[in-house]
Amino acid sequence: MSEQHTINSSLDENRKFSASKEFSANAHIKSISEYKQLYGHSVKNPEQFWKEQSQLIHWFKPFNKVLEWNKPFCMWFLGGKTNVAYNCLDRHLSTARKNKAAIIWEGDNGETKTYTYQQLHREVCKFANVLKQKNIAKGDRVCIYMPMVPELAIAMLACARIGAVHSIVFGGFSAHSLRDRINDCQAKLVVTTDAGIRGGKIVPLKENVDKSLEECPSVQSVIVSRRANAVSSSNSSSGSAICHMKDGRDFWWDDEMNHENLSSVCDAVEMESEDPLFILYTSGTTGKPKGILHTTAGYLLYTTLTFKHIFDYHEEDTFWCTADIGWVTGHSYIVYGPLSNGATTLMFEGTPFYPDPARFWQVVEKYKVNIFYTAPTAIRALAKEGIEWTNKYDLSSLRLLGTVGEPINPEAWMWYYDNIGKKRCPIVDTWWQTETGGILISPIPGAIAQKPGSATLPFFGVQPVVLKEDGTEAAVNEGGYLTIKYPWPSMMRTIYGDPERFKQTYFSKFANLSETLPASPLAGISAGLYFTGDGARKDEDGYFWLMGRIDDVINIAGHRLGTAEIESALVSHKSVAEAAVVPRPHEVKGQSIYAYVTLKQGVDKTHLLKDELIKHVAAEISPIAKPEVIHFADNLPKTRSGKIMRRILKAIAEGKEDVGDTTTLADPSVVAQLLQTREI
Ligand code: WTA
Repeated sequence: MSEQHTINSSLDENRKFSASKEFSANAHIKSISEYKQLYGHSVKNPEQFWKEQSQLIHWFKPFNKVLEWNKPFCMWFLGGKTNVAYNCLDRHLSTARKNKAAIIWEGDNGETKTYTYQQLHREVCKFANVLKQKNIAKGDRVCIYMPMVPELAIAMLACARIGAVHSIVFGGFSAHSLRDRINDCQAKLVVTTDAGIRGGKIVPLKENVDKSLEECPSVQSVIVSRRANAVSSSNSSSGSAICHMKDGRDFWWDDEMNHENLSSVCDAVEMESEDPLFILYTSGTTGKPKGILHTTAGYLLYTTLTFKHIFDYHEEDTFWCTADIGWVTGHSYIVYGPLSNGATTLMFEGTPFYPDPARFWQVVEKYKVNIFYTAPTAIRALAKEGIEWTNKYDLSSLRLLGTVGEPINPEAWMWYYDNIGKKRCPIVDTWWQTETGGILISPIPGAIAQKPGSATLPFFGVQPVVLKEDGTEAAVNEGGYLTIKYPWPSMMRTIYGDPERFKQTYFSKFANLSETLPASPLAGISAGLYFTGDGARKDEDGYFWLMGRIDDVINIAGHRLGTAEIESALVSHKSVAEAAVVPRPHEVKGQSIYAYVTLKQGVDKTHLLKDELIKHVAAEISPIAKPEVIHFADNLPKTRSGKIMRRILKAIAEGKEDVGDTTTLADPSVVAQLLQTREI
C-alpha cells in the first residue's frame, strides 16, 4: 500500500474546521444532524430516497422502477424517459434563467465570451442539426478532441440532445492515444479544432487528428472549429498556421453553422434512462485504456444532486472548476452538474502560470467567482510561488473552495484555507473517480466539519467500506481496500464492449465473500461490492482518509496513467528490451514516474538516449506521461517464475535503503546493483 500520503504532519489530525454560522444558516444542508438524518434515510430506504430526489430533473415520462441490480450490473429509473441536454438547457428557458449566463469563457490571453442559456440553447440546437446532416443518429459515437473552447461544451450537449454518445479525448493526448480511443468505440465523426492555445503556445490538434485518421476506418467526417485562425492548406497565403482539410471528409465548424438553411430548431430526443450518454477512457492496470460507459438518467440526477449539495450551489453563484473537460471532473462539474442546476459555469482555456502565477486569482477577481474547485497539484505548485501572487487580487467573492484528483496533504490544505479562502471558506475535498460519475465522499460544507487531508463522509446513498485482504472490515484507523457496497445512480455501467473486464476489474476481488465469511454483514451482496482500486482508512469519527492507489495506476498531477501503458510505450522503442515503471512521491505532482529500462544488446546507455525515450513516451501517450527518471538497469529483480517484483523497484525509487525481503528473487544481487546506480 502506498505510504506517500501518510505525510508526517505537524497538524493535529483531529483538528476540525467548520463553516461559519452564517454559511451554515444559508446552506441547503445546515447541520450534521440534518446530514445524518438524510444519509440514514438514503441508505435505509435507498429506493424511496432516490424516488424523492428524482424530482430534481425533468422527465418526459416517469420511471416505474428505481433500481434493478443483476450484480454487478445495475439499471436505474427503468421505464423513465428524459434528455440530458433538455435538462441542462430547455427547462431553464421558461424561467428567469433564460438570459442568465450559462457559460462564461475566459481565453488563454484574457479574451472573453459569454453564452446565456438561451444563446447556448440555440447553438446546441444548430450543432445538433449539423451532426444529423452528417448522418449522426441516436447511439452513434462521436469523438471530441478539443481544447477548452465553448464549442466543446456545445458539441457535448448537441450529442446528448440527439442521443449520440460522446467520447471526449483530452487534447493533451497524442495521435496514437487518439487513434486507439477512436477505434475502440468505432466513432463515426470527430469534432476538433484547428489548434489549441495554452500558455501562449499552439497545440496542433487537427494535425494529430489527421495522423490518427490514417488508421481509423470508422470515421466518416471531421468538423473543425477555428481557434488558432489557421487557414486551409489550399489557401495558405495569409501566413497563419496551416490546417489541412481533406475534401469530402473535413468541414469547418463556421461554414456548417452559418449555412443559411440550417435550422435552429431541434427537438431533444426522449431517451430511455439507461441509454448511453458518454464513454470516457481511463487508465487501468493493463496497457489498454478502459472505455467507461455512463448512461442518461442516473448520471444526470447524481451530478445534479451532488453539485447542489457539495458545492452548496445558490442561484447567484459563479462557479469555477479549473479542470479540463477532457477528464471526468470537467464532464460532471463544468458542464452537466452546473448547467442542470441552471448555474453560471466558468470555462478557462489557460494555465495557472500564464502569463504569471497570479492568473487564477486574477480570473477570480475578474468574474467575482464564488465557488472555486481545483486540484491539489495546482495548489502545491502555486503555494511554492509565494503569497505575493495571491495578495495581488481581491479574493473576497469566494465563499467555498474545493479539491479533487488526488489526496491533498494537510500543509497544502492549510495554505489553501489561509491564503485563498482567508480562513472564511470551507474546503470540500471531493473523492471520486471516472467510474463513479460523481463525487462519492466529501464534506457537505454547511454540515460536515473538515479535517485537513480527509475527504470526510459519504454522500447520500453511498456506502463505503474499508476491507482487509481477507475480506473482513478493517478496524478504526486500519488501512485497507476502499469498496462501495451498493450501487449509486451514476455508477459506470460497464466497460464499453468488454463486460467481462468490467466484472473482473471492479467486482472480482471480494466476489466470494459470502462463502468465506457467512457472518459478515456483507454476505450476500459481495458479488456487488465495487472495488475502487484505492487504499483508505476510516477514523474514530467515521471520516475517510484516502491513501492513494493500490493497483498499478499512477496519479500524476491528478492524471491517471497505468504503469503498463507507459511500459508498453517504452518497449515499443527499438533500443528497449524491457521496462518497469513505478511511481515515486513528488512534491508538486503528488507522484512522478520512475522508469527502469533494460536496453537491447549492444545499445549504449547515453543521456541522449534517455531524452529520446522520454520524448518517445510523450509522443506515444502524452507529455503528462513523461518519466522523470530513466534508470538504465542491466537486470530487473524477478522471482524464479519471472515476475518483476515491483515492491522492490518502488522502494529503490523512493530512496529507501531497506528494500524488504529479497529472498524470493532469482538473483538477489540485482538489488545491490540497482541501489548503486539509482537516481535520487
Ligand atoms: C484519486 C478524478 C484522494 C483516487 C475525479 C481515484 C483522490 C482517482 C481524490 C480517480 C481525493 C480523486 N482524495 N484521492 N479527493 N479524488 N482521487 O478517474 O486515486 O481521473 O481513484 O477521477 O484519483 O481519478 P479519475
